[in-house]
Amino acid sequence: MKRILVTGGAGFIGSHFIKYQFKNYPNLHIVNLDKLTYAGNPDNLMDIDASRYTFIQGDIADAGAVATAMEGCDAVVNFAAETHVDRSILGAAQFIDTDVRGVYNIVETARKMGTRRVLLVSTDEVYGSIDVGSFKESDPINPRNPYSASKAGGEFIGRAYFHTFQVPVVITRGSNTYGSHQYPEKVLPLFVTNAIDHQPLPLYEGGEHNVRDWLYVVDHCGGIDCALRRGTPGEIYNVSGGNERENIMLTRRILQLTGRGEDLIKRVPDRPGHDRRYSIDSSKLRALGWAPKMDWDEGIALTIQWYKDNEWWWRKIKTGEYLEYYRKQYEDRRPLGNA
Ligand code: NAD
Ligand code: DAU
Repeated sequence: MKRILVTGGAGFIGSHFIKYQFKNYPNLHIVNLDKLTYAGNPDNLMDIDASRYTFIQGDIADAGAVATAMEGCDAVVNFAAETHVDRSILGAAQFIDTDVRGVYNIVETARKMGTRRVLLVSTDEVYGSIDVGSFKESDPINPRNPYSASKAGGEFIGRAYFHTFQVPVVITRGSNTYGSHQYPEKVLPLFVTNAIDHQPLPLYEGGEHNVRDWLYVVDHCGGIDCALRRGTPGEIYNVSGGNERENIMLTRRILQLTGRGEDLIKRVPDRPGHDRRYSIDSSKLRALGWAPKMDWDEGIALTIQWYKDNEWWWRKIKTGEYLEYYRKQYEDRRPLGNA
């Protein structure tokens, strides 16, 4: 592959993926098509080698923008999405425009252009919640919130384009990803930056029982890269970190590593339709030679240190639109009393 289109490359995982590609494939040129929504941040790509990189500001829901960006590319890797579950509960329309219509534009353009690979980055949330054991790719999906339903919609369009038109679509389903440069609406950077500022950590009711499986962002990028280059068209690959933690355990670790006390935990009413536990089996991707490398204790310590060292990055974000969202999302929630 000489030239690939990355969509949503100014976001959290997409920007790490671009850096991962530049590090591992010295002759590759990357085109990044990104709308620069509230979550897209040019600061994430400050040190990129401009001679191997083309940035296009545009919307994947706009077929013309996708066609311009995809021209001459061997492959496309789609990260572009509305990604926050709580925002999808406040309003789902934008999720459908981007996560369904946007994916349609990508596979339809790939069909017309004969693009050699289309990698759709999806999520373990499409399976829904599981009490015991772990989902395999062959299990039926059961998305239960507007975000995961939109992601599942995009997956189904991609799979239909493989079966009907033989567009070489590969899908990855990643678990909860953590690392530097993550927008501070997701639980980990939100709790870390609040803790640094001695602000309450709004833990949703049931935090003792809600489990997420944490995957280091560079490992997630390695998994996507493996599926892109070694995966079989028409197949789906789970990508998980193997680090299942209850939310309360994650919260306590954050408090410990930021030197704050448990009095900062503020119990708030639960997220509507909250999935209790996500767990996926990634042996299919491991059989292609991928495995996560980052140890949880080291990964979380490195990540928290990054937010401590890079206040310039997140303080700019926690203003304006962010504060408006924060008020809508949290200030109307009645506290349930402290831990
Ligand atoms: P993010 O919210 O940090 O970034 C999303 C990026 O997409 C931003 O740069 C934004 O500007 C861009 N974008 C949004 N709508 C767009 C549009 N219509 N056209 C063009 N660009 C648009 O997202 P993330 O957390 O890095 O997630 C990236 C992908 O990985 C998503 O597809 C998400 O569903 C998936 N995923 C995320 C996680 C996670 O834990 N963060 C886990 C599994 C899968
Ligand atoms: O599983 C993969 C998914 O992980 C990705 O597809 C999504 O894009 C990503 O946002 C993430 O979804 P979650 O809903 O699991 O992540 P979030 O960080 O929003 O929440 C993680 C857990 O923490 C969840 O159980 C809800 C809880 N939580 C979250 C927030 C924002 C709280 O208790 N308080 C909070 O303020």
